[in-house]
Amino acid sequence: MRFSSSFRTAMASPFTVHRLHMRGRSPVVKCLNTIETILRRSVGTEPVVAHTEGAQGDDSGEKDGPKSLSELMADRQEQAEKSVLISCPSRTSEKKFLKFLSKHGDINKHFFYESYGVYAVVEFARRDSVVSLLESAAIPNVNHECMVPFKSRLLSLSNQSSAASPAQQPRLPCRPQTTIAINELIQRLSREDSVDDQMGALTEAYQLTEENSRLRFLVCSLLKDVAAAYFPECTIRPFGSSVNGFGKLGCDLDMFLDLDTISGWNFKPPKSGLSLEYQMKRTNSERHVTQSILSVIGECVDHFGPGCVGVQKILNARCPLVRFAHQPSGFQCDLTANNRVAMKSTELLYLYGELDPRVRRLVFTVRFWARAHGVTSSIPGAWITNFSLTVMILFFLQKRSPPIIPTLDRLRDLAGPADESVIEGTDCTFVSDFSKIQLQSNTDTLEQLLGDFFEFYATFPFSRMSINIRKGREQNKPEVAPLHIQNPFETSLNVSKNVNTSQLDRFVALCQESAWLLQQGEARTQRGSGGNCMDNPWGLATLLLPSKVAGIKGRKKYKKEGASERIKSLLESLKNKNEEPKR
Ligand code: GTP
Ligand code: MG
Repeated sequence: MRFSSSFRTAMASPFTVHRLHMRGRSPVVKCLNTIETILRRSVGTEPVVAHTEGAQGDDSGEKDGPKSLSELMADRQEQAEKSVLISCPSRTSEKKFLKFLSKHGDINKHFFYESYGVYAVVEFARRDSVVSLLESAAIPNVNHECMVPFKSRLLSLSNQSSAASPAQQPRLPCRPQTTIAINELIQRLSREDSVDDQMGALTEAYQLTEENSRLRFLVCSLLKDVAAAYFPECTIRPFGSSVNGFGKLGCDLDMFLDLDTISGWNFKPPKSGLSLEYQMKRTNSERHVTQSILSVIGECVDHFGPGCVGVQKILNARCPLVRFAHQPSGFQCDLTANNRVAMKSTELLYLYGELDPRVRRLVFTVRFWARAHGVTSSIPGAWITNFSLTVMILFFLQKRSPPIIPTLDRLRDLAGPADESVIEGTDCTFVSDFSKIQLQSNTDTLEQLLGDFFEFYATFPFSRMSINIRKGREQNKPEVAPLHIQNPFETSLNVSKNVNTSQLDRFVALCQESAWLLQQGEARTQRGSGGNCMDNPWGLATLLLPSKVAGIKGRKKYKKEGASERIKSLLESLKNKNEEPKR
């Protein structure tokens, strides 16, 4: 099937809009025309209202400290709306490429990266530059494929373009979007002078880069262009580790289709006497509405989402979602809707991470350690999730003396009127203005915190007590579950309900082992020990090596002198436990 030539631009252009593969004729033409119209509108000159839920912060304007997550996200969304993603021949001349693009307007920022080919992210200073660029782009003329008239902001630069010079071009300077291998990390860590430096180096090596963050917001924005065919005023916002400050390169992209501006949850009585007609057919259940919306959007992404492959609609999950891979960015994407509490959890985690630099480093380190040992996994199952683990770390930091971070109840007490947020009856209010939060003076080093974290959970009374960051103290378990972590907002829920006894036991055993290993390393960190550290992993590097927990006898080669009596007895109990087979 081929659409009329009116969809093709008459202008000769080195750019083509990305090819779309059609699988069927049915309702597509109407839908695509809508997409095209919406796209023109959304990249046009009308300002897009950045959704800032709960209008964070003081009404007085200037604030001290870091930006709130909503402010940060509004800036990122603005950048993304002015950006395009271009697939380039690897021998593209950067200079000519930029010269050509700047015909459409000033460029704020650009970078190249590799993912199944070379891509450029280009942010223009103005949105109308994007419109101008798209108008100049041709629909590709390929006989064996069916085209759809959807000019998305994913473009291809042709080999024939003057910017793509086959002759002796140096390779484009590509920004890495992937992480170093664990072996290389272990070597790198072993060259550091202290455990504190090791934790800093690990965070540096694995945290999301500026470019990767931009790319995540751009993918959300590209997807919004598709969803806007049905819901013109929708927004798609990232949440979870893409924005909470704890994401590592390669983490999934959790997205939230936000229909709040149109869905009526903030319904106000009509001033004009007119109200819009809303109709959801055949259901009055909120969950069913979410499933229907995601089903329609999933279908649309599957058929016409440029670069989106392997689309799965997982609508019967507790939180219905559409999962797919976005090939040009390499991101594994989960699109959800009606998930505003998760957005508030993300804001809360971000806030804690910004309060004290030790928080991010400790969370990064423990999350990395957990993944290295299979305590967490990218596959859903009975493992501890990164979210649960992060809440456990925050709880530990609240329990320090003096505490490093305040309780959620304290953050709620500090909230102003603009911070108020009640989502479907759940109070999600907490302060967003950092200058209102007074921290206590705690001088613990990262090394102390890491060792004590392992010891804390090696001896935590999991069988009786629940972890509660709202109160900052453990409480009697309200229900039988191996691990009980109270959901910070929906307080009757357990965020770690999925965790089974053997996974919890494994976590505890690994905490015991790591606490012991760090104690063994104490002498060496204060050592000035000679020798080649490359062959001699120490400190945090040792904790990332394959665990001997399933056969602790292998640890006999480690010297035990200096280990505290407490850890020694823990080890004894661990040895006994390890007589039983482990997974
Ligand atoms: P990774 O994807 O593993 O890197 O971490 P993540 O923090 O993104 O976790 P995940 O993708 O599993 O979940 C995304 C976000 O959803 C989390 O950051 C939380 O904000 C929220 N979330 C996940 N699980 C739960 C849960 O059990 N309860 C609540 N309230 N929110 C959750
Ligand atoms: Mg995630």
